[in-house]
Amino acid sequence: MTLSTETRAELVEIAGRYPQKRSGLLPMLHLVQSSEGRITPEGITACAEILEISPADVSGVATFYTMYKRKPVGDYHVGVCTNTLCAVMGGDEIFATLKDHLDVGNDETTDDGKITLEHVECNAACDYAPVMMVNWEFMDNQTPESAVRLVDDLRAGTEVHSTRGPRLCTWREAERVLAGFADGLAGEGPSAGPSSLVGLGIARERGWTAPDPEQSDLAAPADPEVDAAPAVPTDADSGSDKHQAAAEADDDVAEAAEVEQDSPTDETAAEKKEAD
Ligand code: FES
Repeated sequence: MTLSTETRAELVEIAGRYPQKRSGLLPMLHLVQSSEGRITPEGITACAEILEISPADVSGVATFYTMYKRKPVGDYHVGVCTNTLCAVMGGDEIFATLKDHLDVGNDETTDDGKITLEHVECNAACDYAPVMMVNWEFMDNQTPESAVRLVDDLRAGTEVHSTRGPRLCTWREAERVLAGFADGLAGEGPSAGPSSLVGLGIARERGWTAPDPEQSDLAAPADPEVDAAPAVPTDADSGSDKHQAAAEADDDVAEAAEVEQDSPTDETAAEKKEAD
């Protein structure tokens, strides 16, 4: 299947956004996914022609990043974080529950073409563990029960909102946004959630400020408890620690050598005993 004239024109448009057009490859591949539902051989060829690179170069990128799919994805890509923190907080259980409920394995799509289930790595949202992603929008603090409700709602066509973002669109629509074509939903929903802002609140309360990039030392916190804490070693400190540790290690070696010299070996002790 060949790409539509419109898609090809948009691929050219993306390439034109960058001083070096090959920098446009990642968003171009997202556009191919949006248009074709996956990375197709035709999409690879088109990107290669437009960027004047080889299809192998394009293929190498498309097969390296897990966000690029070589087989069709359902209307909703449902990712369950099973990285360390989410896994122990219930991510493994959620993933196992969804596999049973949807009757699919990892990276497989339901028979109705609605849901593709995949276990994903840390989404830097550990403060909301266990986390799921639907078309790369956050669904925070999930449980096996809420996860089942979520996929049932998606399959039924019920409008679902991300816990920290807009209403969920389809995977193809989300891929178009990742290609750099805004859908007008960026302002919808909350952005950073309360758990992510706790540190900022504490810093404001205590008058802490970000380190001045012009100075090498960290800004001194105003909190006496923190003042009492051991100082963070600088590179210079750790360098001198290293030298000191090395000097101590040298002393140990010297002492060990001295002890060895003073102590008779098994052989000389035996000879002495025989002489006695
Ligand atoms: S471990 Fe799941 S978001 Fe970090």
